[in-house]
Amino acid sequence: SPFRSAAVLSDSYSTEASQLADIDWDNLGFGFLPTDYMYMMKCTQGGNFSKGELQRFGNIELNPSAGVLNYGQGLFEGLKAYRKEDGNILLFRPEENALRMRLGAERMCMPSPTVEQFVEAVKATVLANKRWVPPPGKGSLYIRPLLMGSGAVLGLAPAPEYTFLIYVSPVGNYFKEGVAPINLIVEHELHRATPGGTGGVKTIGNYAAVLKAQSAAKAKGYSDVLYLDCVHKKYLEEVSSCNIFVVKDNVISTPAIKGTILPGITRKSIIDVARSQGFQVEERAVQVDELLNADEVFCTGTAVVVSPVGSITYKGNRVSYGVDGFGAVSQQLYSVLTRLQMGLTEDKMNWTVE
Ligand code: COI
Repeated sequence: SPFRSAAVLSDSYSTEASQLADIDWDNLGFGFLPTDYMYMMKCTQGGNFSKGELQRFGNIELNPSAGVLNYGQGLFEGLKAYRKEDGNILLFRPEENALRMRLGAERMCMPSPTVEQFVEAVKATVLANKRWVPPPGKGSLYIRPLLMGSGAVLGLAPAPEYTFLIYVSPVGNYFKEGVAPINLIVEHELHRATPGGTGGVKTIGNYAAVLKAQSAAKAKGYSDVLYLDCVHKKYLEEVSSCNIFVVKDNVISTPAIKGTILPGITRKSIIDVARSQGFQVEERAVQVDELLNADEVFCTGTAVVVSPVGSITYKGNRVSYGVDGFGAVSQQLYSVLTRLQMGLTEDKMNWTVE
């Protein structure tokens, strides 16, 4: 438990100061912790979002016939806020999340906030909850914007009303391995996405759909599942919650975005960081066989940041990458990216927002 005493995790969502004092900042994992405020904004189908507001954090009310509950009309985003040594707080590329939500909303027939509304709402939510941003070096405040069809529908159709909501939670490492390399298993029967489907947008159903394979993998001691394309069953797609990169002879390759892969903001940032560091980066079809003789494999995502992969198992054969922590390339990229995100280095990319 991230709390020193489990007692404070009673069934109440109240967030008294004593609970904040009880957080063990050195042992934050990636679990939900209630904070003080959430942001809510509503609009009707065909309308535009106008003015939202902060509310005390708590349960929300939904009609049992809400589009999101019945037909999965929903999207989510994820981004992080880091506390700097000088006390200021940094967001990382929030407008990219806003744009991705807008693309997803178009695919899911939902109205979405403008980029400006999204970014302003994120800033307001972080400021209202700023006491929950972990101290420098201890983690970050994970920001979870949601967009959902909250109006009632019975026949299959877009919902008549939409809710945009943001909540936040302090987090540490995503995988229970911490910063140690993760062990993946390649899934060759179940698939995450299909051409023409919704794999390329951050719709909530994409994540429920991977739970079965992920649970089976975890029961066998693996950290997570690596998916293959559903047509040829031989090209890498992504891990349940992050993108994948393969390094061979200092060339960095990652599956190209083609509708079935989530266009990760960390993925895109790592590609730019790697190129700025002089690496050759290829976005292309990466064959599962290339894992056999790769020098390094790593994953990227907002939640996972950059996670080294220690081994991959495919059809019973386990390939290990022989490193205890990061390989040299992923270490370098992790370090450049996270120093920038935490405000420890000059932001020449202009990616951070204070
Ligand atoms: C993120 O990395 O922010 C995600 O949205 C993945 C989620 C499954 C934690």
